[in-house]
Amino acid sequence: MPGRLNGKVALITGAARGQGEAEARLFVAEGAKVVLGDILVELGQQVAADLCAQGGQATFVKLDVTQEEDWQRAVETAVQTYGKLDILVNNAGIFPTEGVEATDLALWNRVIAVNQTGVWLGMKYAIPAMRQAGGGSIVNISSIAGLIGSGMATAYHGAKGAVRLITKTAAVEYAKEGIRINSVHPGGVETEMLRVLSEEGRRAAMLAHPLGRFATPQDIAYGVLYLASDEASFVTGAELVIDGGYTAQ
Ligand SMILES: NC(=O)c1ccc[n+]([C@@H]2O[C@H](COP(=O)([O-])OP(=O)(O)OC[C@H]3O[C@@H](n4cnc5c(N)ncnc54)[C@H](O)[C@@H]3O)[C@@H](O)[C@H]2O)c1
Repeated sequence: MPGRLNGKVALITGAARGQGEAEARLFVAEGAKVVLGDILVELGQQVAADLCAQGGQATFVKLDVTQEEDWQRAVETAVQTYGKLDILVNNAGIFPTEGVEATDLALWNRVIAVNQTGVWLGMKYAIPAMRQAGGGSIVNISSIAGLIGSGMATAYHGAKGAVRLITKTAAVEYAKEGIRINSVHPGGVETEMLRVLSEEGRRAAMLAHPLGRFATPQDIAYGVLYLASDEASFVTGAELVIDGGYTAQ
């Protein structure tokens, strides 16, 4: 059976667990060769080994998305191991919940570095390889926090909002080269990231989603798969909201 990503080579950041892991597993199941990047080396290596044991093609590379040399090495790994790079999923992120006054400068700079600067660096180093491949698809993981406020997580909202617009302007810049760039805006997703919430906060957040639950990582991965695949060949600069109706209210 032909997969939806047959013949494609993808690099996914933050792929050691959570949504990135789900995307790596789905992409391999759909025929892609995947380079998994993360700072969680052991966990990432285990996921890649598991995918290979199941007959897929996957490689782990240590990638801190704030470090230019790591990006250069990750893109080189894709090209040297699998011959090219077609897809980048900028998924890595951190979620400190501090508001305006509780955020200190070091925390602010860290959140912006990982969630915003990391996305730009990823595009900067992946695009030359995609140009060589004759085009490509970049999926930047923002959040509903990039669309609306919540009264907390100031730096996170700032970075995720920036990802939305960095995506749109880059989509216009690279459209003529056949490189499509879109953002995805998940609502709450059942991953380690939401462990910062108290039990009460968790329940309230869940109920704020009209569908009455958080997303599974797979709910988001299917949207990322669509944007990454040639099925979305006329989709660029778009924002795909996958939030159980949260922002529809
Ligand atoms: N979980 C949610 O409710 C939710 C909602 C909306 C958006 N998001 C976004 O989805 C993405 C994935 O998050 P998740 O839910 O899978 O959470 P997660 O915490 O399970 O996964 C995040 C991954 O990013 C990695 N990471 C963190 N800093 C990194 C760095 N500097 N370099 C490379 N990797 C790094 C982590 O090691 C981890 O594997 C993030 O961008 C997050 O902001 C999450």
